[in-house]
Amino acid sequence: MENQEEVNFGRSLIVPSVQQLARNEPSITKIPHRYVQQLDDHDSSFVSSDDPLTINPSVPVIDLHNLIENTSTYSSELIKLHTASKQWGFFQVINHGISETLLEDFKREILDFFGLSMEEKKHLWQEEDNHEGFGQLFVVSEEQKLDWSDMFYITTLPHHLRKSQLFQKLPHLLRDKLEVYSAEMKKLAVAILGQMGKALGMKTEEMSELFEDGVQSMRMNYYPPCPEPELALGFSPHSDADALTILYQLNQTDGLQIRKDGKWVTVKPLPNALVVNIGDIMEIVSNGVYKSIEHRAMVNSNDERLSVATFYSSSMGTELGPAQSLVAQHKVANFRRVPLEEYFKGFFARKLDGKSYLDYMKLGESK
Ligand code: OGA
Ligand code: NI
Repeated sequence: MENQEEVNFGRSLIVPSVQQLARNEPSITKIPHRYVQQLDDHDSSFVSSDDPLTINPSVPVIDLHNLIENTSTYSSELIKLHTASKQWGFFQVINHGISETLLEDFKREILDFFGLSMEEKKHLWQEEDNHEGFGQLFVVSEEQKLDWSDMFYITTLPHHLRKSQLFQKLPHLLRDKLEVYSAEMKKLAVAILGQMGKALGMKTEEMSELFEDGVQSMRMNYYPPCPEPELALGFSPHSDADALTILYQLNQTDGLQIRKDGKWVTVKPLPNALVVNIGDIMEIVSNGVYKSIEHRAMVNSNDERLSVATFYSSSMGTELGPAQSLVAQHKVANFRRVPLEEYFKGFFARKLDGKSYLDYMKLGESK
C-alpha cells in the first residue's frame, strides 16, 4: 500500500479497570450497578456440557495435520472442516503446529502484563480518540452496561498499521513473544482460510488476493473472578467482525459459550488446542455458506480467566463482498460490497449487538 499513515479504526469511552476494582476490594459481595446485565437466558436456555439431561453437543475438533500435510485422510478432514464451518461456525484445532514452548512463553508474558500495577498500565491505556491499549471496546454511552473484564487491544499486522508508540511501550519480553506469535497466527489463519477456499470451491487467486497481506489485531482478555457471576457477563454476545479468529484460552477455566440452535453451548478448553471461529467477513466472502456465530464469555466467582483472540481480516484496500466465483455458482449475491476500511469504521462505531451489523450488510429477502 502506498499510504503509510496510521489508520484510526475507532474509539471507545474510557471506563474503569475491573481488575483494579477486584484487586482493591477483594471482599466485595455485590457488583456495581453498571455491571448488572439483563440476562433472560441465564437459566432457561442455558446448556452446560456437563448437564446429563440435555443432549450434549460439543464443538467439532479438526486435526490440522491431516489438512496441511495432505495425509491420506485429507478429503474426509476437509469435509469435516466444511461441515463445521457451515453448521457450527466454531471448531477446535489440534496438531496445529504452533509450538507448546511458544504458547507457554506467550502465556507467561501475558499473565505478567495483566499483573502490572495500575501506575504502569496507565501508560498503555486507551486514549480518547483511539481504542488501542488497555480498556474495553464498543463503549459508546455512559449509560451502557459494562462487561466484567479488562482487555488490551492492538493492531499487529501489516506493520505499517501498527501504532508504533504503543508497541514501543510494551514490556520487551512480551513484545518479542508477540512478534513470533503474530507471525505464527498469520500463517495458521492463511492456511485454514486456504483450505476453506478449497472446500467452498473458490478460485485460489481470490483467497490469496484477499488474505495475503491481511489486517491482524489481537485482543487479550482478562476476566477477574466475579462476586455475582449470575448477574454479570465477561463479554457480551457478539459475532467477530474479522474473517477468522484464533482463540488461545490461557487456562482451563470454562467461560466461552456459543449460540447453537438458540441455546448457549460451553466450549470446553481442550489441552493444546486452539479455538477457531468464522467471523463476519468470512460469512460475507462465502456468500453466507459459512456462519459467523454469536458467542459470549461468562464469569465465575472463584477463578480468573484469560484468553487471547487473534483476528485476521482481508487486506486494506480490498473490497469486501461475496467472492465472485461463489456469486457465479450461487447465481445471487447475498451481501452488499463495501471497502474494508469503511466496514471496520462502521463496526467499531456501534455498541455490540449480536449479529446486527452483519444483518445490515445483508441484501434481499434473507434480511
Ligand atoms: C473475543 C472473544 C471470548 C473469550 O475476544 O472476541 O469472543 O473466551 N473472546 O475470551
Ligand atoms: Ni469474539
